[in-house]
Amino acid sequence: MTSRLQTTLLAAGAGLYYLKARRERARVERLAAAALESLLNAIDANDPDTGAHVRRVAAFSLIIADACGLSEHARSSVERVALFHDIGKVHEALFDITHDDRALSAEERQQIATHPQLGADVVAPLSLFYPDLGAGVLAHHERWDGTGYPRGLRGAEIPLTARIVAVADTFDAITHHRRYDMARSAPHAVEVIAAERGRQFDPDITDAFLSPAVQLLVHAAMQPSPLPEGIVACKRQQTPTYTEVPDVAFRWHAATV
Ligand SMILES: [Fe+2]
Repeated sequence: MTSRLQTTLLAAGAGLYYLKARRERARVERLAAAALESLLNAIDANDPDTGAHVRRVAAFSLIIADACGLSEHARSSVERVALFHDIGKVHEALFDITHDDRALSAEERQQIATHPQLGADVVAPLSLFYPDLGAGVLAHHERWDGTGYPRGLRGAEIPLTARIVAVADTFDAITHHRRYDMARSAPHAVEVIAAERGRQFDPDITDAFLSPAVQLLVHAAMQPSPLPEGIVACKRQQTPTYTEVPDVAFRWHAATV
């Protein structure tokens, strides 16, 4: 009898522990998601053009991720890397360059080329929650043939997230007006990407992007509304109310005057 009671109590204790652990995990995940939303808001506040760009790149990247049959977990990683791949461009060191209408000089191009590292540094504290975010941000200008930057990674050495975002990023860069470049047509962007298959881009991901089904979805995503489902798209959602936000100590220091 005593033994049966002990077993029952043990089972009840394990159940309670499991429920508590699950609740704690959900709270931490909400906190991490809120941190990402704040970061995205910070991009919008500093540079709305970049905010719009990264959302479009996220939309295209998710379409490619789905075409590649990625798991939900990998898909979310792609989404995060897409949303924050250019966060280094809102760095103060690059602000004047990225907000100038003139064509870039060679020196300015070199400075712009630091944005993957600057971005990876910005998101580094999030590695506790999203260990692959920084690596994806850092690698989004690597090229399949090893001639990209900043590390000259080659082929599958480049994180999958970055290989997908690279295609989506290029498509958006070509099809949208930038300060120093006019927008070109989607068919032209498709031609450029096809020509870079196996050079700049992963051949399999390029094939997925060029498939008729993906092209239809990309075309639909380029329309102003509605946005495709599955994007974080903070702008579309009501800010959720969190009633149970855990106490979390974060590192900061007072500004020195
Ligand atoms: Fe970039």
